[in-house]
Amino acid sequence: MQLGVCYYPEQWPRSMWADDARRMAELGITHVRIAEFAWSRMEPRAGEFVWEWLDEAIDTLAAAGLKLVLGTPTASPPKWLIDAHPDVLPVRADGVRWNFGSRRHYDISSETYRRECVRFVTAMAERYGQHPSIVAWQTDNELGCHDTVPSYSSAALTRFHAWLKRRYENVDALNDAWGNVFWSMEYSSFEAIGLPNLTPTDANPIHLLDFRRFMSDEVASFHREQIEVLRRHAPAADLLHNFMGFFTTFDHYRFAEGNALDVAAWDSYPIARTESIALPEEQKARYARTAHPDVSAFDHDRYRAIGAGRFWVMEQQAGPVNWATWNPVPAKGMVRLWAYEAFAHGAELVSYFRWRQCPYAQEQMHSGLNLPNNELSPGGLEVQQAAREIAESAALSGLGAPARAATAVVFDYETQWMFEIQRHGKTFDYQTLVFDYYEALRELGLDVDIVSSKADLTQYRLVVVPSIAVIDDALVDQIEQSSAQWVFGPRSGSKTPAFAIPSSLPPGALQRVLPMQVLEVETLRPTLAPAVCIGDTHGVAMHWREHVRANSETRVDAQFNDAWPAILASGRVRYVAAWLSHALHRAVLEQAAKDAAIEVQLLADGLRIRRRSDLTFAFNFGAEQVQAPAPANATFVLGQPQLATGEVCAWRDAQTR
Ligand code: GAL
Repeated sequence: MQLGVCYYPEQWPRSMWADDARRMAELGITHVRIAEFAWSRMEPRAGEFVWEWLDEAIDTLAAAGLKLVLGTPTASPPKWLIDAHPDVLPVRADGVRWNFGSRRHYDISSETYRRECVRFVTAMAERYGQHPSIVAWQTDNELGCHDTVPSYSSAALTRFHAWLKRRYENVDALNDAWGNVFWSMEYSSFEAIGLPNLTPTDANPIHLLDFRRFMSDEVASFHREQIEVLRRHAPAADLLHNFMGFFTTFDHYRFAEGNALDVAAWDSYPIARTESIALPEEQKARYARTAHPDVSAFDHDRYRAIGAGRFWVMEQQAGPVNWATWNPVPAKGMVRLWAYEAFAHGAELVSYFRWRQCPYAQEQMHSGLNLPNNELSPGGLEVQQAAREIAESAALSGLGAPARAATAVVFDYETQWMFEIQRHGKTFDYQTLVFDYYEALRELGLDVDIVSSKADLTQYRLVVVPSIAVIDDALVDQIEQSSAQWVFGPRSGSKTPAFAIPSSLPPGALQRVLPMQVLEVETLRPTLAPAVCIGDTHGVAMHWREHVRANSETRVDAQFNDAWPAILASGRVRYVAAWLSHALHRAVLEQAAKDAAIEVQLLADGLRIRRRSDLTFAFNFGAEQVQAPAPANATFVLGQPQLATGEVCAWRDAQTR
């Protein structure tokens, strides 16, 4: 459990650096990330490197005993580079080029920009790769942020052609796979294919999907070009990238494949995220100052898998931020709580954004651990408290790694893209559906791993697939090889990899283990709400429902009031034929968990628990005081069982260890 901070020495007079470093160390901070936006200071003119200030900043921080994470500054190409190569600026879907004057103003497919990045990162890595205090390198910053992937440039088009050639080999195969006979969309060469923007009506969904797959690969290859340089020059350092919450524009599993990452880091702004995702207004209001109890946990659990067990929070909200629709001050205790929450989910490091609020430029309304006058902010004081508690507790500072959870939720990036391309109804959003299932599992007190469908799923006792567009034979093999309970949600198996309806009808290959067929599907305006009950839980279908034909061997566990099956099952596999209201999802999952012999406990509103090693942590995100569900003989290593809003406790529980 280590604490870090993001620091921008270039934004402050040198006379402050030594004191900043001393105060960081005194506060209990061990890691400092620097440099990720400082290109114009490291290379003020083409080829003219000025390292001396950075040498001094690094040495000053290192002298205070701090470990450094060095960011490559490629998210903010300087003006001279843009003036020399204006085609580096990216092109939006409407054909307009972005301007210089903020950040992320580069086209990820630009060969010129890629060359410039490799050139610069090589120089930086040659200079600092062996520095003993630099323990990690971050590539770029939040790839894809500000909607900067994709780019609709001629550079992207050229590379898209090459990508299509590798995938289809000849254009007839592409025409065939894409179904281009429809609307006379056939092409006579790869070069004749355009980008899927600026079409009068929908472009072919497989054209859009392949473009998204291509762009996802572009992001990964852009990162890898830097990783190759860094591996050569900084072989001892951990290499990472800082991903974002609820962000699905590229496939993070593919991004991490091979040797591309040592640690998955992500940036956690729970209140701003709660404000910006598709949650009911009533929940946004309820959790306005604490953030929704599952919003950070969801990404902790996702990035833990992406980092193959190793994840950091590279930027943690330290107070009010500047970029959501509304930016309230967090409830007292939350800045401390979020650190423990990340640790409970397995984070090795929680690094706050930022050391001090910057009184000028774009982020002047964004808090830090210090106010602009250098006094510790309310968030800074909470970090001080957490750092002391951890330092004084062997149980906390020496906490072991989290174990595999009994329950897995499968998250699939291509499914997000396919259902975004073809929502079919205004309110269908895949990630929101996954989140609804995840929330239900967490309300039942369960620890969850969020994993890829390609991961080894056979060791779990309960596998929840809220939806997955393509079900391949390999996934069905996993069902057969495991002894888990499996729950599939609507639209599962509804597509082939070429974005067509499977010839056997949905749910495609799942029919091997669950004989049923989806005959018709409907999206539901809010006034259409077929009712259903599961046990004594009553609710409705929302957004999406399917009309399903069950085979005679298939059980129908619940039916809608108009007699269509709602839950179908065969052996250990269940299929939920609609997006159900939340309590119904929880009822289905509770039943499946019981069948999997997993103990569930419905937690008080706003309360969440998470186990790591021999400790159980409890967190109160709700407005009322709650009691943590610790056994009578539990030994508390942090806090106590009565939790007011924003409070956390942790205990060792004699009977389970
Ligand atoms: C992140 C970004 C940081 C900073 C922060 C403000 O998205 O990586 O550089 O802008 O947001 O919340």
